[in-house]
Amino acid sequence: MKITTKINLLTTAWMLCILILVNFVVFFLFMKTTVNMEEDMLFQKAGNILKDIDNNLSSSEIERKLEEYLTEHSYIRIIDKGNKVSHEVSNDKLLSKKVKAKYKISKQANTHLISAEKGEEQVLVVHVPIINGNQIQGSLEIGERLQGLEARREILRAILIFCTTLAAFLSLLGGRWLANMIMRPISKMIITMEEIEKSGVPKTIPIQNKTKDELQTMALTFNRMIDRLQVNMEKQNQFVSDASHELKTPLTVIKSYANLLRRHGLENTEIAQEAIKAIHSEATRIQKMSETFLDLATLERENVLEIIDVNVVSLCQDIIKQLKDVYRREITLHFDENPIIIRADELKIKQVIIILLDNAVKYSKEKIEVYLEKNEQNVIIQVKDYGIGIPQDEINNIFERFYRVDKARSRETGGTGLGLHIANSIMKLHDGEIKVESTEGLGTNVKLFFHK
Ligand SMILES: Nc1ncnc2c1ncn2[C@@H]1O[C@H](COP(=O)(O)OP(=O)(O)OP(=O)(O)O)[C@@H](O)[C@H]1O
Ligand SMILES: [Mg+2]
Repeated sequence: MKITTKINLLTTAWMLCILILVNFVVFFLFMKTTVNMEEDMLFQKAGNILKDIDNNLSSSEIERKLEEYLTEHSYIRIIDKGNKVSHEVSNDKLLSKKVKAKYKISKQANTHLISAEKGEEQVLVVHVPIINGNQIQGSLEIGERLQGLEARREILRAILIFCTTLAAFLSLLGGRWLANMIMRPISKMIITMEEIEKSGVPKTIPIQNKTKDELQTMALTFNRMIDRLQVNMEKQNQFVSDASHELKTPLTVIKSYANLLRRHGLENTEIAQEAIKAIHSEATRIQKMSETFLDLATLERENVLEIIDVNVVSLCQDIIKQLKDVYRREITLHFDENPIIIRADELKIKQVIIILLDNAVKYSKEKIEVYLEKNEQNVIIQVKDYGIGIPQDEINNIFERFYRVDKARSRETGGTGLGLHIANSIMKLHDGEIKVESTEGLGTNVKLFFHK
């Protein structure tokens, strides 16, 4: 069953239950108050009669007086202590025949059901004791058919049934409208999801009016998710095409040298050596590149950090010690205090510093300096070189994936253009910043900011 139909049926059923309950309450309260009003009127009448008749009146005078009080379909009796009717006036033979006279010493009202001409009918009978001095002399009984009540009851019943049916019908319509309104965004979402499933292309749901309800929040969340998915897919596609493009160049070089080797290598050792050297260097390049690709893929997949307290002074000392031997370059470390602690993922920060030092080594020939500083807001790590520098208008591009300022030169140095992109991603994960200041021909200063 569709959820709209379910909501519709359930709301209508609930509404009907409430209506039926309310109708019962209305019906019974109405009946009760009407009978009570009739009772009060009859007691009032009985009181008036008792005031009007006294012991001095003759039997025929009493009956005449009683007749004055007769209303339509009623009787009035005076019953003595021996349960004998001493006086009776009636304008409804059937009524006085069906209701037996009863002597009662207290004031009370009862309803009876009698079988009348048109089926069963309610009769209201009241008893009032006749008191003379302190003595009860008999009981005054007044009986009256509740004909008006019957009619009113029927009308009320008809009205209530009509109103309930109308309300049920309206509730059915309203429920349908409500269910449709609630389900519309969900249905749209389902259609969009089905389209995505069929085409495999992520799509967002159009949102017309901003209602700020849960359904809209759901649609917005869905759209945000799709947007992220789209960005990730684009990134992935871009990465695959960039990466294969990057791999194509060294592979072409390897292939052409391999061809050269095949054709002339065996006779000419000079050519053979050149080819082998080139093939070896390009293969090394591919190896390094694939390692970097893996690094990047891991970084983008698992961006969870293992945050600990890291002393950047000892970290830099360790890195520099290792790299000095590999690069055979002068790298000096400057710091005013030790330790300088940051909250970070040690391995990732080490990676960033190595990326910066690797660049400094590749793009300069003189000494390299590393400065560690700490101020109120930040801990700053600076890597400074006096090398070729970066043109001002290129500084913003160098964080892009595979971006290299001078492609030809980078080929010599073996760069893939991923180092600074990785460094930037890691700094973003740490809520930190990376800033590059550089002057062409004079050198470059890269600063890492860790906010406290
Ligand atoms: N210290 C620097 N001095 C001069 N140019 C630099 C320096 N650091 C980076 N660059 C320029 O920015 C580009 C991007 O640097 P990045 O570290 O991202 O790539 P790469 O060094 O070429 O390759 P990879 O680091 O992936 O091996 C470099 O190709 C280079 O042109
Ligand atoms: Mg680099």
